[in-house]
Amino acid sequence: MAPFDKQKTAGQGTVLPRHIAIIMDGNGRWAQKRGLPRTAGHAAGAETFRRVASYCRDLGIEYLTVYAFSTENWKRSAEEVSAIMGLLKKYLEEAIEKMRRENVRIRILGDTSVLSGELRGLIERVESIDSTLDSHTQANLCVNYGGRDEIIRAVKAWQADPDRGELTERELSKYLYTAGMPDPDLVIRPGGEERVSNFLLWQSAYSEFYFTDTLWPDFTERDMDAAIASYQSRNRRYGGVK
Ligand code: IPE
Ligand code: IPE
Ligand code: MG
Repeated sequence: MAPFDKQKTAGQGTVLPRHIAIIMDGNGRWAQKRGLPRTAGHAAGAETFRRVASYCRDLGIEYLTVYAFSTENWKRSAEEVSAIMGLLKKYLEEAIEKMRRENVRIRILGDTSVLSGELRGLIERVESIDSTLDSHTQANLCVNYGGRDEIIRAVKAWQADPDRGELTERELSKYLYTAGMPDPDLVIRPGGEERVSNFLLWQSAYSEFYFTDTLWPDFTERDMDAAIASYQSRNRRYGGVK
């Protein structure tokens, strides 16, 4: 039996997270430990993402948001960056084939304007299929994503909008990449580091965090179970008393 309660859903006023976010970290170290190039770690990490995304869909998680490439990751070698972009291309091509069958909506969150024309074309195709699906699960891939960058963009977009309302938290949220989505209930970071690294800064204001030393390519369904079980043991107070 799963170590957490699969019956509990947010809709029922209980505690299966509606939105899980993951900082997919540890690919490079996973490869290094095996004497492989870092790019082999990214390929293994991409497989883990496929597996974990299917598992979340099967559990009935509504939103899964993963950090695939940050606004700071351009500091890496050209070879590593291009390997990651190649994996993204492969994933999007596959998604175009399989999205209808698997019934998972896919969104890319981040500044995609600097990606290659080919990638932008694939993202457009994925998002056009997306709007025709009636899925329970949405997978958000954060690519060239930075939390601070997102907030600055949102403020600028709000400022430029002739129909803008008064600047409130709710108003600004409409201009974030995550507009219309619930905030993440649970943020998971594998790979042993205990930091946010510019991920979902605005949205994780009241998220529960779960850190594990497991490197992302080694992350399994059982690790997800353990994270959800930990989440279910938390007392979310939102600054109040409960
Ligand atoms: C996460 O793994 C993937 C990206 C940041 C693109 P890393 O590549 O950061 O792996 P480590 O942290 O070096 O092990
Ligand atoms: C965070 O991991 C970014 C992604 C997982 C895409 P990093 O490996 O880039 O983070 P730092 O450098 O350890 O903070
Ligand atoms: Mg890392």
